[in-house]
Amino acid sequence: MRGSRGRASPRPPDDGGGGTGAAVSALTKLLRREIKAWLGCGDGAAGPERDMAVNGGTMRLVTHMSERIRGRLLDDVIAAEDAETEAAEADDDYTYLLFHPREVLLDLLPGNAVVAEIGVAKGAFSRQILARARPAGLHLIDPWEEQADDAYRPDPANVEQGAQDKRVERIRGMFAGEIEAGTVVVHRDYSGAALARFDPGTFDWVYVDAMHTYDAVLADLRACRRVVRPGGLILGHDYANHGLARGMNFGVVEAVRDFAAESGWRLLCLTADEYPTYVLAEGRGDAVEALEAEILARLTVLKVHGFLRMRYRQEYHIDRGRRRLNMYVSLK
Ligand SMILES: C[S@@+](CC[C@H](N)C(=O)[O-])C[C@H]1O[C@@H](n2cnc3c(N)ncnc32)[C@H](O)[C@@H]1O
Repeated sequence: MRGSRGRASPRPPDDGGGGTGAAVSALTKLLRREIKAWLGCGDGAAGPERDMAVNGGTMRLVTHMSERIRGRLLDDVIAAEDAETEAAEADDDYTYLLFHPREVLLDLLPGNAVVAEIGVAKGAFSRQILARARPAGLHLIDPWEEQADDAYRPDPANVEQGAQDKRVERIRGMFAGEIEAGTVVVHRDYSGAALARFDPGTFDWVYVDAMHTYDAVLADLRACRRVVRPGGLILGHDYANHGLARGMNFGVVEAVRDFAAESGWRLLCLTADEYPTYVLAEGRGDAVEALEAEILARLTVLKVHGFLRMRYRQEYHIDRGRRRLNMYVSLK
């Protein structure tokens, strides 16, 4: 105990019973002073202060701990974390659940990348990729063709041919400048045929968001594996198995699981929203290291070990009174 060690305790005044309250109060004050002195924030030695934003306002946080003690604790925490990280590096069987929308991932990916979006529709996400990830090259792959496949009929992306033609024309107009500059290339074709024309390892990362049936997604992931460079990433949309997704014959969850099992790629992260975006990676390449560092530094996440061995279900909470539906993830 600093400063006051060995100091004699004052005797409580004996006033025959009437002064007991005053004695207790004096003792409490003394104890408070002792504890504050020990923590280094006693008289004139207040602990460090910092401001914290709280619901739009500001709250002053006074850390009741001396810099010396804080520093020592921090050193201990960092040393323990380093030891744990070293041990964890041998085990990369974990997935980060991100409590953020998919666009946030685009801010964290390295700029100047060569990228493909497979399944483009109206180009809403292509615009986000351009604005936020700032790629050196963006290849947009979509046949913009109405498809007769029964399993694809219930998917609202499978619009009639007139609408498909309008979509691709609008895309060409929307990205006219980038197409002229060579930053955006439009490939009006099916994923299998379009990707087969690229050399192995062409892309830093790709975004798979075409047909969502099990067979289609597994085929796209296999084709992407060939054209993504070593250490690159495969991102994809709609890792969903709630009732609406099942009604559209989505098989993304099962396709990702089987692709990971056959290829050895890992599910690095997943957004925890209604139509989640996933990120697949092979081992611990440079892109994984960079993205993981950004995720941990900037996002709110839950690290789940053995995620792909768990039963993942998106379940509804139904508030019948207000006719509201909320969705949550259940992992078992
Ligand atoms: C869900 S939409 C894409 C949405 C877009 N990625 C976005 O986030 O704004 C699916 C698109 O995939 C396209 N598609 C369907 N089958 C495909 C295939 N085999 N190859 C490439 N695109 C395909 C459809 O034409 C449709 O435009």
